[in-house]
Amino acid sequence: MSVHRQVRKVTTHVLNEMKLRGEKIAMLTAYDYSLARILDKAKIDALLVGDSASNVMAGHETTLPITLNEMIYHASSVVRGVSRALVIVDLPFGTYQGNSREALSSAIRIMKETGAHAVKLEGGSEVIESVDRILSAGIPVMGHLGLMPQSIHKFGTYVVRATGNEEAEKLVRDAHLLEESGCFGIVVEKIPAMLAGQVSSELNIPVIGIGAGPHVDGQILVTHDMLGLTQEFSPRFLRRYLNLNDEIQGAVHSYIEDVRLKDFPNKNEQY
Ligand code: KIV
Repeated sequence: MSVHRQVRKVTTHVLNEMKLRGEKIAMLTAYDYSLARILDKAKIDALLVGDSASNVMAGHETTLPITLNEMIYHASSVVRGVSRALVIVDLPFGTYQGNSREALSSAIRIMKETGAHAVKLEGGSEVIESVDRILSAGIPVMGHLGLMPQSIHKFGTYVVRATGNEEAEKLVRDAHLLEESGCFGIVVEKIPAMLAGQVSSELNIPVIGIGAGPHVDGQILVTHDMLGLTQEFSPRFLRRYLNLNDEIQGAVHSYIEDVRLKDFPNKNEQY
């Protein structure tokens, strides 16, 4: 029987076992209790409380404005809805770069105040001191390489990363560095499929892709995108499994009509 079917609680060790057995890992984002509960019941392996909450939940243009307190609010809501999935929380911009002590205290706040199981942060050699310090406190860390939305003002654009040799070589070096430090996994975002496959085959820890092709150990999508709640964002890598925008619009139109026609509430819907 597959590891995915056997386990009652997904841990970082379970994800590693899945990689060893060649079982693909399915991850999604979550920011609130109700949706997290549904995703957990559907047996998603891991939920990321992504700083994409800044875009999806708060309507900001980038992930930069979201605060540690806001991430803690989202993460604690998600944790209350989950009984099986591993919950990983993004360290928001400005809470871990350049100061490993601050990184540790940010990670500790997340673990203490939310009950989540791990943190994720963006970057390789630039943030390795922070990674080391967080790991030294026994907090599992996931890396994130390739397109790193917290660095959007440095990149200037959301195009595919590491298409040139120099950036690709640095990405591979960073992936090894993160593994050697003790990270339990790495997300690679929007990089060529062959490069992602190379990283996955060279590393012993799971490599989870978003816009990184099929040769990795698992996939992650932003839940609001794959359910069609968001409309404007349509990159090539995104597969929409539902069109909830249209479903919700339809339901709301029906409700408005029922109220206007005095059809709602009816005799059975009152006291
Ligand atoms: O914040 C987020 O949702 C992420 C995923 C896109 C990997 O980091």
